[in-house]
Amino acid sequence: MTERWAPSSWRSKPAKHIPADYPDTAALAQVEDTLRGMPPLVFAGEARRLKSLLGDVANGKAFLLQGGDCAESFKEFSANNIRDTFRLLLQMAVVLTFAGGKPVVKVGRIAGQFAKPRSSPVEVKDGVELPSYRGDNINGMDFTAEERTPDPQRLLRAYGQAASTLNLLRAFATGGYADLHNVHRWTLDFVEGSPQGARYRALSDKIGETLDFMSAVGVTPESHPTLHQVEFFTSHEALLLGFEEAMTRVDSTSSDWYDTSAHLLWIGERTRQLDGAHIEFCKGIKNPIGMKVGPSVEPEELIRLIDALNPANEAGRLTLYGRFGSDKIEARLPALMAATKREGRSVVWATDPMHGNTLTANNGYKTRPFERILSEVKSFIDVARAEGVHPGGVHFEMTGQNVTECLGGARMLSEGDLGDRYHTHCDPRLNADQSLELAFLVAEKLKETQGSGRAQAAE
Ligand code: TRP
Ligand code: MN
Repeated sequence: MTERWAPSSWRSKPAKHIPADYPDTAALAQVEDTLRGMPPLVFAGEARRLKSLLGDVANGKAFLLQGGDCAESFKEFSANNIRDTFRLLLQMAVVLTFAGGKPVVKVGRIAGQFAKPRSSPVEVKDGVELPSYRGDNINGMDFTAEERTPDPQRLLRAYGQAASTLNLLRAFATGGYADLHNVHRWTLDFVEGSPQGARYRALSDKIGETLDFMSAVGVTPESHPTLHQVEFFTSHEALLLGFEEAMTRVDSTSSDWYDTSAHLLWIGERTRQLDGAHIEFCKGIKNPIGMKVGPSVEPEELIRLIDALNPANEAGRLTLYGRFGSDKIEARLPALMAATKREGRSVVWATDPMHGNTLTANNGYKTRPFERILSEVKSFIDVARAEGVHPGGVHFEMTGQNVTECLGGARMLSEGDLGDRYHTHCDPRLNADQSLELAFLVAEKLKETQGSGRAQAAE
């Protein structure tokens, strides 16, 4: 055994993408101390529950749906915004559950997804150089020296926003809003008239009929609370380790360490160095962990990373999100899936079809073509099937708002449309229409690959 792990162990390792330019480090330490005394945002038992559900995904018995903003912001924070992301996730979950015939594990990229790794620590505009924007819990987006200076007080504001976001999500998930009988009501106004809206209405009519039938034979939300509520979990990138450390507590039931800032934490593509701070931190917490896997990872390296994060080979502990780009996935993913299968490593294989498919439009907007996102998801399912691996889930950057950030989709957003409602604080997100369309297309694809299994079962 090496030295005993502690929430602060990461501090002795090389740490990438953590700001070192707080002007007042004593003030930062004080804020972290305050956070240490704040109530946990999630409970260890809930994180264990998610791990067990992800274990079902790892074993091919369930599907993971994870989504939300690239970066949450103080400015876009509102009850309506949270509700709209939540109801869109419910719609997508219904579509995927119906098509896949398997439970869908619902995880928001929400209630703490603030900090961003940036390709450059500084930004230059008209000859002026300032620190890059790193997320609302660190500094501000406006291009002024004052805004761009890291301010530790922002961590407390982010904690507060995460707490009230979670409070609302818990109410929505268990208080009746998510009751399957409300399946018609989750459609957002601007989706109502779109092809996706019509498609969703047809599906919810079917579900409504089924529910009426079930109620006639005695299966009601009263007798079966599962009809009345959903289990909903939160997640964000474990990037800003000072904050994560402060939120890490010993669980009194198991005496294990849990990061109570979210149910699931993931390690980004830019911070997954085997001997780095982020891997070190995640090794010691018992939450389910995710890791992004990009085109540069080789199979041997992947196995070493898996063994560092999941030495007991526990199903549900580790989710891998492939993020290769639609043009690279077919060349890179098969060997990685083959390696986890051959070596008997239990992981959830999921796809993040967003981050490998970002480009800059001619008019300067950072965007993502819907076609490429869809193509990467399809390739993911094809490769998984060819390798005999369960295509376990999807991770999307999306919003319930009617934004114009990704190109294409059924409404055929063009470069000229991007300027209309481009609100993201970081990467371009799928809007509600595009997200629902993608859910339908993923559902179709999953059905197609399951077809033979179902036919056999029916014989
Ligand atoms: N509780 C079940 C589930 O989460 C059924 C359910 C209730 C549901 N409300 C839902 C499923 C909303 C999807 C969306 O699967
Ligand atoms: Mn992003």
